[in-house]
Amino acid sequence: MTDDITLTIDERPVTVPEGTTILQAAKSVGINIPTICYHEFCTSNGLCRICVVEVEGSRTLVPACVAKVSQDMVVRTRTPRVVNARRTILEMLNASVDLSEDENIQDLMHEYAADEARFPLAEPRQHAILDDNPMYIRDYAKCILCWRCVQVCADDAQYTYAINFSGRGYHTSISTYYDLPLTETTCVFCGQCVGVCPTGALKPKREWLMELGYTPDQIMQMTRTERKSRMRRPQASA
Ligand code: SF4
Ligand code: FES
Repeated sequence: MTDDITLTIDERPVTVPEGTTILQAAKSVGINIPTICYHEFCTSNGLCRICVVEVEGSRTLVPACVAKVSQDMVVRTRTPRVVNARRTILEMLNASVDLSEDENIQDLMHEYAADEARFPLAEPRQHAILDDNPMYIRDYAKCILCWRCVQVCADDAQYTYAINFSGRGYHTSISTYYDLPLTETTCVFCGQCVGVCPTGALKPKREWLMELGYTPDQIMQMTRTERKSRMRRPQASA
């Protein structure tokens, strides 16, 4: 049995079970803290930092999606320091990633008055679209490295481990082992990674082809032919 914790969030007293995150505690009293990498069915790793809040006594801002509440904690979710930090995070993301299909981030950009031209010398990440299977495409120019796809492919759901982080710093990306095509990995095409991707970086192949202007009949023809040819095994030589 867990003990209850009482804290203050934005001057409001809140009582929640021990082990609750600040994000969940705030939500329980109707206080909304923005999130990007967080997904309620994935393990939180505090990667994007958009959810940072001020906690009295803490030198640094605290990521609400991973930080647990403690007795008598005093949390402020929208101070000028918090708003500035969130705005800068959004501006940095916007400078390096194609966010055009992420409505949540678009809304946050508007809400926090993020300046799209804040970092004019930044180099947006360039990636060719990876179209290596009949089920979904990977457009990593739209990837915010939230890690959701890696986690559902691993211990959060599928236990398949087909994808993971690759590279470092600016060159970090999601990839397969040795950059192999997905058809040559352990991927079982369950689609869970596509389901949790917030940005359109992972997209069903049919949706992508529709956006390119193909008709449903053409798409059926293309993906069926592709599936057959990928499933056909090379004949053993006599
Ligand atoms: S591909 Fe999508 S789910 Fe995976 S890390 Fe990038 S944005 Fe997140
Ligand atoms: S939502 Fe908390 S760090 Fe991304």
